[in-house]
Amino acid sequence: MKYYHIITYGCQMNVADSERMAHQLEEVGYVETADVDQADLIIINTCAVRENAEITTYGKIGELKKNKMKNPNLILAITGCMAQKNQADMFKKAPHIDIVLGTHNLKHINEMIEEVAHTKKHQINVDMDNTVFHELEAKPSGTFSAWVPINNGCNKFCTYCIVPHVRGREISRPLEAIVADVTKLGAQGYKEITLLGQNVNSYGLDFKDGTDFGTLVTALDHIPGVERIRYMTSHPQDMTKAMIDAMAASSNICHMMHLPLQSGSPEILRRMNRKYSLDWYKELVAYARDKMPDLVMTTDIIVGFPGENEEDFQMTLEALKEIRYDMVYSFIYSKRSGTPAAEFGDQVDEEVKRVRLQTLMDVQNEISYERNQPMEGQTFDIIVEGPSKRNEHMWFGRTDGNKMILFPEDPDLRVGDTVKAKVDKAQTWVLYGTIQK
Ligand code: SAH
Ligand code: SF4
Ligand code: F3S
Repeated sequence: MKYYHIITYGCQMNVADSERMAHQLEEVGYVETADVDQADLIIINTCAVRENAEITTYGKIGELKKNKMKNPNLILAITGCMAQKNQADMFKKAPHIDIVLGTHNLKHINEMIEEVAHTKKHQINVDMDNTVFHELEAKPSGTFSAWVPINNGCNKFCTYCIVPHVRGREISRPLEAIVADVTKLGAQGYKEITLLGQNVNSYGLDFKDGTDFGTLVTALDHIPGVERIRYMTSHPQDMTKAMIDAMAASSNICHMMHLPLQSGSPEILRRMNRKYSLDWYKELVAYARDKMPDLVMTTDIIVGFPGENEEDFQMTLEALKEIRYDMVYSFIYSKRSGTPAAEFGDQVDEEVKRVRLQTLMDVQNEISYERNQPMEGQTFDIIVEGPSKRNEHMWFGRTDGNKMILFPEDPDLRVGDTVKAKVDKAQTWVLYGTIQK
């Protein structure tokens, strides 16, 4: 019996890729183990979006040296975005790595393993083919929720971002393939599906036949067993009112929009190569909230982008106060070599960045708290996810808008049950409730 263990960093796209590698490994007889020390094959599926992601990964790779010493036949493979970015340099930094496999080459994992087993030599494949999306079957890792890639790559080239460089150009999967996947998953009991892409809103544009994300949303309505469809990540530039209409008309798409704004300053947006104006963005949000009054809105913000001065930063805070998101994912700008912004002369001081991040979080935490308050006393459908991390006697589930409701453990409930929960107390990050029977 040969055991494999996959460590996944980064976004959900990587989770989906890991599921696809797992399927291929099991085809040739590998068995999954949760114990890294038992593994004959360890894959680290990596992220390169910020420097911290790379530091964490090199740390992990270093730790695994002792596993290689204990078991000389152990194979260590590095896959994903950091493998794509750093390529053969990874062998220089850590010669105990056996395989470096880029984002477009997951289908070669088994051949590479065979090759290492026979030759004991470093194997690398970081070729990029921007013309095909390899259809690979997945081994779903969730109990009731599953990931379905709809497109890969990004053509936007925001000046700070490494993703277009490591994921390549946008390629969409055929609509029929996605519908077939979702239908199969629905029949298998996956009631929650998340559609994945670096930029889901540009789905289908490469077909040049009128197909777009709205078409897909409509095509995925009324698939038996599928109660909720989520998607990530959006790009404001490619989100249209017609797509919002398709969402509002759908019976299963969740009323939530994660629409990364990145900055509230026109000058910073321009320097980021984000080609929308704040006014245009706000109009889109107003339209969406009008069509879906229960819409949950979230965003991504980068603080400390090169050249961001106090006035620019205040504009971002103003934007948050005006738009009033339910939640904001905020990041300190991280220099990525190979991207234009890394070469910009006016980099912001690290301490200034840290202070801005904290200020932004303080402003947003209050807004998040206020946004949650009206939920008190209301009842929501949640899908039960199981015990919370902090307290095993408190279970939780998520609302359509992805808000977490905690409730006392209940022997009648199973993971994946859809139940009604009444919110008793709303806090900034979580809600406390009781199950309605
Ligand atoms: N395709 C998605 C984003 C993927 S990366 C989009 O366009 O929204 C997720 C988030 O990481 C981005 O929205 C951005 O806020 C952040 N990010 C990307 N590159 C970064 C960098 N160099 N430094 C800090 N944050 C970054
Ligand atoms: Fe990166 Fe911009 Fe593409 Fe998002 S849209 S992945 S932030 S380049
Ligand atoms: Fe990271 Fe690659 Fe996703 S860089 S965020 S794992 S697309």
